Amino acid sequence: MSIVAVAMHHERAIKEFEADFERAGESRIPAWFADPSWSQEDRVARVNGWSEGRFLPAGWKPCTTRFYERAGELLGVVNVRHVLDERMRRLGGHVGYSVRPSARRQGIGTALLAAGLEVLGDLGVDQALLTCDQDNTGSIRIIEGHGGVPTAPVVREDGITLRFWVPVP
Ligand SMILES: CC(C)(COP(=O)(O)OP(=O)(O)OC[C@H]1O[C@@H](n2cnc3c(N)ncnc32)[C@H](O)[C@@H]1OP(=O)(O)O)[C@@H](O)C(=O)NCCC(=O)NCCS
Repeated sequence: MSIVAVAMHHERAIKEFEADFERAGESRIPAWFADPSWSQEDRVARVNGWSEGRFLPAGWKPCTTRFYERAGELLGVVNVRHVLDERMRRLGGHVGYSVRPSARRQGIGTALLAAGLEVLGDLGVDQALLTCDQDNTGSIRIIEGHGGVPTAPVVREDGITLRFWVPVP
């Protein structure tokens, strides 16, 4: 397996990655922010440009997106925010990830958070803020597995966002 940036040769694999979520009835893919209408050229230029501060939508901060690739298939995605604004400090955190439904419970989410922490380490961040819904058992396990220490949760109108500080190795 490898952790990779999206590239031109991933066009088929991206379509298959997105279709996997669709088949499972999951309309939103957390951490994968490419617009479905974009060409592969646009995906590569924009998503990779965000990490260098290019093509950022209004109000966004630079972020790095990486995929978990195995045998030519993209199985999961991680998005790492380089800095946090007030809203992300409350609700979004530094790192988001998604594993395609057909590849869950194989340790890929755990590997994606490790990859995200490595990106933060390279940026000189030593504590990552991670957030997830109170009922997201998988994500809570992943965060705890990386040494996450709970900090004040945020009560939303429609639920509770748990927040953790995770040491960056
Ligand atoms: C949450 C998610 C990323 C987990 O990915 P995954 O690759 O299945 O996770 P892993 O295989 O690394 O599992 C990590 C741990 O969580 C446990 N786990 C994973 N999914 C679980 C579930 N649905 N219920 C209970 N435990 C679960 C695993 O058993 C494992 O436990 P262990 O550390 O004791 O061995 C994945 O379900 C997903 O993409 N969900 C939709 C998007 C999402 O919620 N992203 C996170 C936003 S904060």
